[in-house]
Amino acid sequence: MDVMTAVLSRRSEHHLVEPAPNDQEFAYLLRAAATALDHGSLRPWRLILVRDEGRVVLERCFADECAEPESGRRQMVEGQSAPLLATLVFSPIPHDSGRGSPIPEWEQLAATSAMASSLTLLLHARGFGSVWCTGKFTESEQVRSVLGLNREERLLGWLCIGTPQRLTPSKRRVPEDVTDRISVFAP
Ligand SMILES: Cc1cc2nc3c(=O)[nH]c(=O)nc-3n(C[C@H](O)[C@H](O)[C@H](O)COP(=O)(O)O)c2cc1C
Repeated sequence: MDVMTAVLSRRSEHHLVEPAPNDQEFAYLLRAAATALDHGSLRPWRLILVRDEGRVVLERCFADECAEPESGRRQMVEGQSAPLLATLVFSPIPHDSGRGSPIPEWEQLAATSAMASSLTLLLHARGFGSVWCTGKFTESEQVRSVLGLNREERLLGWLCIGTPQRLTPSKRRVPEDVTDRISVFAP
């Protein structure tokens, strides 16, 4: 699949079933995604793969977080019934003039987002689907703790991954005109 086709036919897929990439295939795709724009090549991120029993534990944790336990489960089922949840963790290298990284944190977050975007395109090109899910659980101390995040890290959500449950392949989109977002600097 050429890059233009991948970009124009990718969608956030909400109905995802088996198969998802196995650990080896995921690592292969992530290696490629990690070549995305990254000022200083810091790779200020990590991914925690959640499948099977891990999902059960995480789902329980989501439900505990909700005043009404079922609503936690429902949210999980709606957006995250995918067989693989790749937890996206932002792990910035401290920006500390002199001793830490010279790359400001916002640039590291931008690099993380670029990696995630490349990963979704690579997954799509391999026949997998994904959707980036965020929501209130990204702020949950219990969820952070069960996943083992440290204080400096930020939970950016989950790339929910699997095979799109659709009968026909997603069509190429006709891109919208965005020329109004372009201006030419004319001093
Ligand atoms: C940082 C970020 C967070 C997102 N969070 C959610 C989410 O919680 N639930 C969801 O269904 N989609 C989420 N999305 C996906 C967007 O809603 C989706 O990309 C957008 O609607 C465009 O649709 P498309 O991906 O099919 O082009 C998120 C995307 C990004 C970049």
